Amino acid sequence: MDKKILRNISYGVYVVSTKYDNKDAGCIINTLTQITSENPLISISLNKNNYTSELLKKANKFIVAIISEDIDPNIISTFGFTTSKDVDKFANFSYEEVDGIKVLNKGICGYIVCEVKDIVDANTHEVIIAKVIDTKKYNENKEMTYRYYHEVIKGSAPKNAPTYEEKEEKKEEQVGKKKYVCDICGYEYLTDGELPDDFVCPLCGADKSHFKEA
Ligand SMILES: Cc1cc2nc3c(=O)[nH]c(=O)nc-3n(C[C@H](O)[C@H](O)[C@H](O)COP(=O)(O)O)c2cc1C
Repeated sequence: MDKKILRNISYGVYVVSTKYDNKDAGCIINTLTQITSENPLISISLNKNNYTSELLKKANKFIVAIISEDIDPNIISTFGFTTSKDVDKFANFSYEEVDGIKVLNKGICGYIVCEVKDIVDANTHEVIIAKVIDTKKYNENKEMTYRYYHEVIKGSAPKNAPTYEEKEEKKEEQVGKKKYVCDICGYEYLTDGELPDDFVCPLCGADKSHFKEA
């Protein structure tokens, strides 16, 4: 089986958020699909270990914010590489509350309010099927695709993402270059030489000490 073909599947990039028992949670996902158009249903795939998943199943309700290309990359590193169990992910970003659930409102095209209808077990993940109960469009900004996230933002996906890949093959532009990887957010930096001392991760703001040669 050539798993490389799976990289040709297209996705968007989203923030799923929820609230239960006065606790907020949210995480980045790429696995949203619209399933039906009349009385629309959508599905998302969530890792069983994600705190967002734990709260979402209790709340039975969540919001998906559609990320646009102009998003602050710190939002992706915070929501995609830390856990709401330990961190108040919304603390440093602009948001509003919709039916008590926090939803980001900068770097976002709009949002979809969802009610859980069904949960399907999928080994490490669960597929959440949900009814769309409300929507809001903020602007006409271009939505971010998963390809844009990889190729322009130069981000990677952590282990809990369904599309995580153990080891990527060297792409043409990487040949002969050194690759440094941020141990916080997975950002990859290619260079002919060494990392400068004042180097700061453009994705999460970590300093040079967090970069390891890969
Ligand atoms: C680009 C990207 C895509 C991701 N896609 C998913 C996904 O579809 N499903 C999922 O469960 N986790 C996905 N993740 C991982 C979660 O966002 C991550 O595990 C997060 O830290 C979970 O936070 P929580 O514990 O607060 O829920 C993705 C992360 C990134 C950066």
